[in-house]
Amino acid sequence: MPLDLDKIDLHSPHRYATQGFPWAEWAQLRDEAPVFWYERDDIEPFWVITRHADVMTISEDSKTFINGGPRLRLALKGEAELLRGGVDSFGLSRGWNPQEPPDFTFMDDPRHRHTRKLSSWAFTQGCMREVGAHFDALAETFTEEFLTALKESDTCDFVHELAAKLPLAATGEILGLPPEDWKQLLVWSNAIIGEVEPEHIRSGETVTQAAERNMSDMRSYLEALIQEHRAPGGGPSPFVNRLVNGRVNGELLNEQQLNSYLFLLIGAGNDTTRNATTGGLVALLEHPDQRDLLCGNAALIPGAVDEILRWTSPVISFLRTVTEDTVINDQSLKAGDTVCMFYPSANRDDRVFSDPYRFDITRDPNPHITFGFGAHFCLGANLAKAELRSVLKALRGVLPRLELTGESRRIANTHVSGFSMLGVRAVA
Ligand code: HEM
Repeated sequence: MPLDLDKIDLHSPHRYATQGFPWAEWAQLRDEAPVFWYERDDIEPFWVITRHADVMTISEDSKTFINGGPRLRLALKGEAELLRGGVDSFGLSRGWNPQEPPDFTFMDDPRHRHTRKLSSWAFTQGCMREVGAHFDALAETFTEEFLTALKESDTCDFVHELAAKLPLAATGEILGLPPEDWKQLLVWSNAIIGEVEPEHIRSGETVTQAAERNMSDMRSYLEALIQEHRAPGGGPSPFVNRLVNGRVNGELLNEQQLNSYLFLLIGAGNDTTRNATTGGLVALLEHPDQRDLLCGNAALIPGAVDEILRWTSPVISFLRTVTEDTVINDQSLKAGDTVCMFYPSANRDDRVFSDPYRFDITRDPNPHITFGFGAHFCLGANLAKAELRSVLKALRGVLPRLELTGESRRIANTHVSGFSMLGVRAVA
């Protein structure tokens, strides 16, 4: 039975938390209305882009489709974009410039290119090869801890006991943070996507207020980190030392720009990779044939990483603003319109992937666009892949001894998807 496209829900966070991705809706849109004008009472209207080719076209043309318009992520009417990261409230107390883009994802070229370059040197494939063995060791330690937790109780939460740990460690190490602070990063990076666990909400606070407070705390922490690295002799992190001394158009970044830069890296690098890891475990346990293939052949790890990335697509959507009247897939778009690209939909497009709803770790080629495309292609893609490879290496041997308990909680968010809790137990 076809769905009534004027009634489908692609924009409410609650939908993603309770029902997961709208696969049927996206599939029908790809076939019948790949560039679809979406109007609902509680959100400003936008064009829905669901096909792989159209996401590529839009991402590649960063003159006609800019990041620096009024909207970059879906937000309900009256709600600020969470990923602005408390810049409005915290920034006010520091006299920050409200016109400054919240971070470089909101910029366009040439400023975007120059600003991004200040850190892209740290995320190359070469850099990742250098840390590969270290990531393997960390992943093994975290897997041991996870197995101990499993032994101690009947079930445990895979998200907290394993998936969250390597992304936090990687971010913590890049920024030179002491390991005892890494856990705090988890609370803060969750707050950025509006997730605050009950124990981190103070009495009388709403979840939104708790998220705001946590983001302010993170901003203050980063402020101290920046001061430490700006002091004569620098701080413990070569990465932050280089960033505080980096120049765009001959100018050092100011306090606000540095804070936002680090805030973005923490925000972008944690929930995403954690969700790919958790979603990857679910996929492998739900497809025992693929799990067994992986267990029997370590050479399949890189392919498994790509298929997990395609399958889980942890970033759901990004928006762009149209700068001049244009046509996409026979549909006329006007200057000022907003387009919303849905990456998971593009990754299930049967115009590009054969049998796209089959989880196949030997899929080749696998041109998924989980990390986006073009000028804003994910800065941390190599890092995320390196982390996933290490986790799969460490976990591979254990997979046949694990099963899902069926208990899980999904994130209520239209930008990043995934689990905030996933119950697993050892097979009896
Ligand atoms: C599985 C994990 C990850 C996924 C699925 C993911 C996905 C994405 C996507 C879809 C974009 C937007 C691309 C576009 O607009 O074309 C993006 C941008 C970005 N990602 Fe990731 N990401 C992941 C991990 C990471 C990590 C580990 C970092 C850590 C540094 C990171 C940092 C960034 C940054 C800084 C941007 C903005 C790039 C720009 O605007 O130039 N991401 N990511």
